[in-house]
Parts: sequence; C-alpha cells; structure tokens
Amino acid sequence: MTTNNVTFDFDMIIPRQGTGSRKWDALDNVFGSEEVLPLWIADMDFSSPKAISAAIIERAKHPIYAYNIQESSLYQSIIQWAKKRHGWEIEQDWILLAPGVVPSISLSIFALSEPGDGIIIQPPVYPPFFTSIRDNDRKVVENPLIFRNGCYEMDFEDLEQKLADPQNKLLLLCSPHNPVGRVWSREELTKVHDLCQKYEVDVLSDEIHNDLVFQGHKHTVFASLGTPVCKQSVTFMAASKTFNIAGLNFSFIIVPCKRRRALIHAWITKLHIGRNNIFGGIGTEAAYREGDEWLDALLIYLEKNADTLIDFVQKKLPNVKVSKPEGTYLAWLDFRAYFPKDKELQTFLIHKAKVGLNAGKNFGTQGEGFARINIATQRSVLLEALTRIEKALQQHAEDVDN
Ligand SMILES: Cc1ncc(COP(=O)(O)O)c(C=O)c1O
Repeated sequence: MTTNNVTFDFDMIIPRQGTGSRKWDALDNVFGSEEVLPLWIADMDFSSPKAISAAIIERAKHPIYAYNIQESSLYQSIIQWAKKRHGWEIEQDWILLAPGVVPSISLSIFALSEPGDGIIIQPPVYPPFFTSIRDNDRKVVENPLIFRNGCYEMDFEDLEQKLADPQNKLLLLCSPHNPVGRVWSREELTKVHDLCQKYEVDVLSDEIHNDLVFQGHKHTVFASLGTPVCKQSVTFMAASKTFNIAGLNFSFIIVPCKRRRALIHAWITKLHIGRNNIFGGIGTEAAYREGDEWLDALLIYLEKNADTLIDFVQKKLPNVKVSKPEGTYLAWLDFRAYFPKDKELQTFLIHKAKVGLNAGKNFGTQGEGFARINIATQRSVLLEALTRIEKALQQHAEDVDN
C-alpha cells in the first residue's frame, strides 16, 4: 500500500510465535488448544511504523536504562496530535502520564467516586470496564446498548433513568466502542453530554481507539464539545492501539479540571505508578511525530479487511450476522442462529473451526452467542480464519441433519 510514495506492506506475514506474544504464544493457556488461529486480543499482526523502532533502537544503544524523566517534547507531541487529528486543543498541565488505560480507569474510579457508588457502563463492552468497577468495590450499573436493525445504539431513555439516580456517580464511556465498533456521532455524544449536565454526573471517556476510524465517520473527543461538563470529564488515550505498541505500557489521562486532576494525581502518587517506562515515552513521541502516513495507510488496509469480512459473512455465512465496524479493528459476530449459548459457541470455534476469538459473554450477558473477531491481521490470515469457520459450520449443519 502506497501513500505519498511511501510503501507499507500490511500483507506481509510477520511470525510472532516465540516473541512472548500474548496473542500467539499463550494459545494453550487461553483456549486449551495450540491449534487455533488467534484473532482475539486487541493488538495487530503488523509491524509498527519504522520511526518507532528507530527511536527505540537509538535510545537502546545507550547502555544505561536507569530512572528517567519524560521530556517536554513528548507532551508537545501529544498536544499536536490531539489538535491535528482530533481538533482538540489541550494544555500540557492537563496531561497525566500512566502505564496503561485500564490502570488509569481504575485509579480515576478511586479518585472520583466512593465505595458503593454506582458507575454506569454500556454493555456489551470491553470486559475490564466491569472488573475495574467491581474489583474496586463500586457497583456496575448497566445501560445496555440497543441492537436495532443490525446496528447498536445508545438507550437514552434508560441512560437518563440511571443518571437521575443520585447513587450513580460516573459514566464510563467507550468511544469508539469496543466491541460493537460504533464511532459515536457528535449528535449522540451531545445527547450524552446534555444528560450528564442535567444530572451532574462526571464522564470517564475511554478513547483508546480514537484514531482508528473508517471513511465516512469522525471521532469526536467527548471533552472537545467544550462545555463545563466536558471540562469536568476525564479522557483516556494512548498511542498503543493506533501504532501497535501496547507492550510499551504507556498511556495518558487528560484532565482539564484542576480539582479532579489533583485527585487523580494523588492516586497516581499513592499507588507509586508515577514513573514511566523509558521506551513508552520514546515510542509514543515517535508515533505522534512521524506516524501519520503509516496510520493513513493502515486505515485503508483495515477498512478493506472490514469489507472483506462483511462480504464473506454475507455470501458464505448467511446465518451469522455482523455489521461493518465504523472504527476500531474489532467486529462483533452474532452466531446466535447456530449457538445461542456461549459455551457451545466457544467449543465450536476452538475445537471445530480452530479459531481463537473473544467469547461474547465476557462483554456482558448481552454478548451470549456472540464472538469478537480482531481483523487487524493480514488479509490472507483473516480469510483463512473465515474459511475455517465456513467449513466447520457446513460440517455442523451436516451433523445436525444426520
Ligand atoms: C476500550 C479499551 N480500553 C483499554 C484497553 C487497554 O488499554 P491498556 O492496554 O492501555 O490498559 C483496550 C484494549 O483492548 C480497549 O479496547
């Protein structure tokens, strides 16, 4: 794939076995079988942009990896990226560095709520949304998405009821949404905003997938809507999904409100996680300074994969339902016509089709009979996985008939 005369080969298979990859090297542990083709955990089978490895290698040449500081150039790269790609103007003081989005969500929950408080989430949703609430002695309050005409929407009536309950202190938003692949429109986010303003509920907005948006859709940073509610909201971002550097354990929290920032910072200090990985900062800065062309090419490739998936499912797996993701590299497959129960579906996928997908039930009870597929892989691998499912479903139909 070529953009501005630079070529990126996303079709090239890069063997990952033996690199300590959670996706590829833990198959027996995760699926109980070494034979599955893994399209599960949200990382990509593509090389990161060369600028990232070059910057890391350059720093690695210096043989001392001792205590470090994060340079102001890193903060500037984050500020410029937010402005350039998302039209969001932020200030350096608002940025808190962290070792990942999930720990950042947990510590923001500590900082901005009390044990027993309700925290609203919109399932089916990324599983750590449940655990980061439950494990911290808060209450999960579900505002399930509505599945209408093959597409997921927010249930604003139910959301209003949940927000109106004074026990519920925070809304944890997933934007774009994992696993359903929605890129919430400005109108939808404005409705969320107006309700949160009415009931004075703070928003924690996980926008880790913000850069992964397909043609015809636009990511709106919740906090960029620009009102007092937005200033009170907390935004989680990282270069990790966009540039495939999740193993560098580096993310940032953007908190415009001074009081809330102080509360979150106090928890970072209390948990002693204020120190950041040397290579995380270097990789993030290189990505944001030099990653545009690579990302533009990646998005074209990923969208073609999404189209390939939809085409394959429509033609060859007609009783499986899926809608094209608007963003992320995740798609949400509805197998309920064959396997309404998750356990049977997983047994089928792992032992008959020999593919490793994420079990739908982990995303909430609404995910029963669904599976999440990660399409950020070479198209040939994606087609191999889909063909395995097709053949196994044919066999399943024959078994049922006999
Ligand atoms: C919505 C969402 N938030 C957070 C994460 C993980 O963030 P981190 O690895 O920085 O903890 C993921 C990974 O898939 C995700 O999809």
